[in-house]
Order: sequence, then C-alpha cells, then structure tokens
Amino acid sequence: GCGGTQTAKEPAQKDSGSTSSEKVLKIGSDIAYAPMEYMNEQQKPEGFDVDLMNAIGEDMGYKVNFETATFDGLIPSLNAGKYDAVISAMTITEERAKTVLFTDKYFQATQSIAVKQGSPIKSEADLKGKKVAVQVGTTGQEVVEKMGITPQKYDTAPDALNDLINGGVEAAVIDSPVVAYFIKQNSDKNIVTISGNFDKEYYGIAIKQDNKELADKINTSLKKLMNNGKYGEIYKKWFNG
Ligand code: ARG
Repeated sequence: GCGGTQTAKEPAQKDSGSTSSEKVLKIGSDIAYAPMEYMNEQQKPEGFDVDLMNAIGEDMGYKVNFETATFDGLIPSLNAGKYDAVISAMTITEERAKTVLFTDKYFQATQSIAVKQGSPIKSEADLKGKKVAVQVGTTGQEVVEKMGITPQKYDTAPDALNDLINGGVEAAVIDSPVVAYFIKQNSDKNIVTISGNFDKEYYGIAIKQDNKELADKINTSLKKLMNNGKYGEIYKKWFNG
C-alpha cells in the first residue's frame, strides 16, 4: 500500500474489510513453470513451490499470497519492496546473490535440452548453429550464451516450448523438471529430452538483502519440513517420490 513497503518485519495486513490481523507473506513468482508453479483451471497457483511455500508460511504462522510476474522482473520487484520473498524455481547464482539473499537450497535441477523426436541434435555440442529457445533472464539463457549461441528469448517457458512444437526453433533449453513435465503433458507432440553435460543447479527462495530475519525464519521452517516428512510428502506428490 502507500506509505511504505511491506516486509515481513511489518507484515502486510489482509485487505481492508477483514477483521483478522492475520500476517501475510507476499510472494512473487512467474507462475507458468509447471510442475514448480502454474495456474490451475480456476486460476489458482499450484505446484511444488506453491505447496512448499504454503507449508513454510503455515509453520511460520503466515498466510501466503502469490502474485505472478515475468521471471526477469522478479528480483527488481522484490528489491523495490513489492514482495516479501520470491519462490520461482530460482537457481541460486553468485550473480543474483549480489543483490538478494537466498535461503538454503530446497531443490536440485539441471538444464535439459528439449528437441523433436528424430532431431539431428543429439548432444549439447549439436546446439551450435541451431535455433535455440530459452526463457529470458534464466540460467538456461546464460548456459546457451556461454556456448557462443544467441538464443531466441521468450517471456515464459511454455512460450519457448510451444514454439519448439510449432517448429519455430529446433531446441529449447529449460530446467529439467519443467521439460520432463511438459513432455509428459504433451505426449502426442513427440518432444524428447537430451541430457546435456550441464552443471547442477540449486533452487533457493530469494529475500531482500536487508531482511535476514525473514531468511532465517524461512530456513528454520524449511529445515523442520525436511526433517518431519512434510517436504518429502510434497516432493512425492509432484515427482512420484
Ligand atoms: N532455474 C532457472 C533460473 O533460475 C529458471 C527459473 C525459471 N522460473 C520460472 N518460474 N519461470 O534461471
């Protein structure tokens, strides 16, 4: 609201009209990254990150409100005070850690190459000289550019993957759980994945640099959920164990 940013130190209150003084965490995310986060048919956020963040909020005694935005705008908006935290399958990188605090890692992934069945692209090296799709502002973009390839950039991962289906590009480089899920959901589209020799990436929740208090609280809850079986339950729900 006006008159100041809302941080979890001074938690955002529920919209006026509510009599409760329930504490709210405002969470930013690019909610177009199934199975990590996506909008269901009722336009409600769902996914691994959503369940995890809700469980963390519950443990902390906060209600969690998700807001969707494009991925490359999440860190600027976080730092502008629009959110208390960002959970968006965001890889912990040195570069990002210069401007935000990351919680402990909560998920391991890697980049995955999606191609059409029968594609001449059989390995990472075959991407050279090909039209490659990435989501703008992601580690996928970074990895492809490091190979000396200028990728085609898309606002969302589904846009990138759908253009692969449509033949606009010959490959898409996106996080492994998202490519695997997309292939399952579009089994009639003959998309396959090629595992490149890419580094492991670890997801973290991003928090404003001056809010170590919130990062500590989230880490405490995260640890608890990892030890009491709740994290495992959520993992199993989205990744069949
Ligand atoms: N893990 C990658 C990164 O941090 C991609 C994340 C994209 N997340 C999303 N919700 N679109 O750059």
